Amino acid sequence: MSETVLRVGLAGIGTVGGGTWTVLNRNAEEIRRRAGRPIQITAVADLDASRVAAITGGKARAVADAMLLARDPEIDVVVELIGGYGFAKDFVLAAIEHGKHVVTANKALLATHGNEIFAAAQRRGVTVAFEAAVAGGIPIIKALREGLTANRIEWIAGIINGTTNFILSEMRDKGLPFNDVLKEAQRLGYAEADPTFDVEGVDAAHKATIMSAIAFGTPMQFEHAHIEGISTLQAKDIAYAEQLGYRIKLLGITKRHPEGVELRVHPTLISSKKLIANVEGAMNAVWVKGDAVGHTMYYGKGAGAEPTASAVIADLVDVARTLTADPHNRVPHLAFQPDQMAALPVVPIEKIQSSYYLRLRVKDQPGVLADITRALAESQISIEAFFQREPDEGVEETDVVLITHLCQEQKMRNAISRIEALATVLTQAVMLRMETFA
Ligand code: HSE
Repeated sequence: MSETVLRVGLAGIGTVGGGTWTVLNRNAEEIRRRAGRPIQITAVADLDASRVAAITGGKARAVADAMLLARDPEIDVVVELIGGYGFAKDFVLAAIEHGKHVVTANKALLATHGNEIFAAAQRRGVTVAFEAAVAGGIPIIKALREGLTANRIEWIAGIINGTTNFILSEMRDKGLPFNDVLKEAQRLGYAEADPTFDVEGVDAAHKATIMSAIAFGTPMQFEHAHIEGISTLQAKDIAYAEQLGYRIKLLGITKRHPEGVELRVHPTLISSKKLIANVEGAMNAVWVKGDAVGHTMYYGKGAGAEPTASAVIADLVDVARTLTADPHNRVPHLAFQPDQMAALPVVPIEKIQSSYYLRLRVKDQPGVLADITRALAESQISIEAFFQREPDEGVEETDVVLITHLCQEQKMRNAISRIEALATVLTQAVMLRMETFA
């Protein structure tokens, strides 16, 4: 067994970097036995020198500028934990150019610039590994790319953002509005001071984009993803959905479609009997349907120091094992050989098929329901479930809630336009998609 140390340059020693340092050191001996050589962080770049010193105790060289790691001939692999797609992109491309393997947790970078980065890595014969970029500690990249490689993947649906899952769980448990729960989540450290990427579904869309590319052998197509977050979701819809036997989760979904692939993130009604509907709090879960294996589901922590470090270190071990392998015989970055990628377009959201939840605020008077159901019938949309809330005393308006059978989204949108034009329908309809996973 070769005992040549794999020399790692760590760029960013915040939460995940600190966890990576801790776990690599704590489990050094087991990791060495698995990797076939010791893996050692020999240099760390972070703007906060005191943090580097506090975590490493001076056992790794500290540098202020990460670019020094990218160019350092004494480093074999860099771990990019800088985040964002500005400097992080320059850093990753520079490291590749200097022949270094790269391990990154940066989903935003890969979803938006992955095509360029993987092409550069391919040319240079280096690996860019990114297990930590999707669902933190859950080894979903490995599962999709290797474990399920025999399958034609049919669809993937995941709770891939812990912040929003925590917020939705709290809204349901406590019946509280989004803003109150968000503030509490920020106080507890579950949500960032600027929660936009999480609550507006962007982070989940980055992760869904990466999974879609691996599942279907397409380039990254983040710019075509349909993205809706949870910031406008009302507690009353969570409660009505529950009365009908559903929970609302922010799902990242990618599916085969006759005209390409679907790639979308939005709040989704799921039968409360389904396993994924019962994934609560900040936990993540990814459900994959393959033609041979059937249904598989992966559950675990999607963030946090050591869960994410678990994925970063798994990638480092992969790099250590394939250091001397011919680049053409390594596992391809996106599961399919680079010259075998498919140009499957992301289909516009109007073309998807879904069931829909509708909530309408209506005048409580004769003929209202007939008008609504007529508008749906004329768009060939069939109703599956329906209820009208008893009006509050002294108020002559109420909520009508219904769930439709499967239909094309364009038909649903047309029907909603007609319904909203009715004089008895008082506000904009609330429309949510529902997945049956049939
Ligand atoms: N902010 C993410 C989440 C974790 O809430 O799940 C990192 O991607």
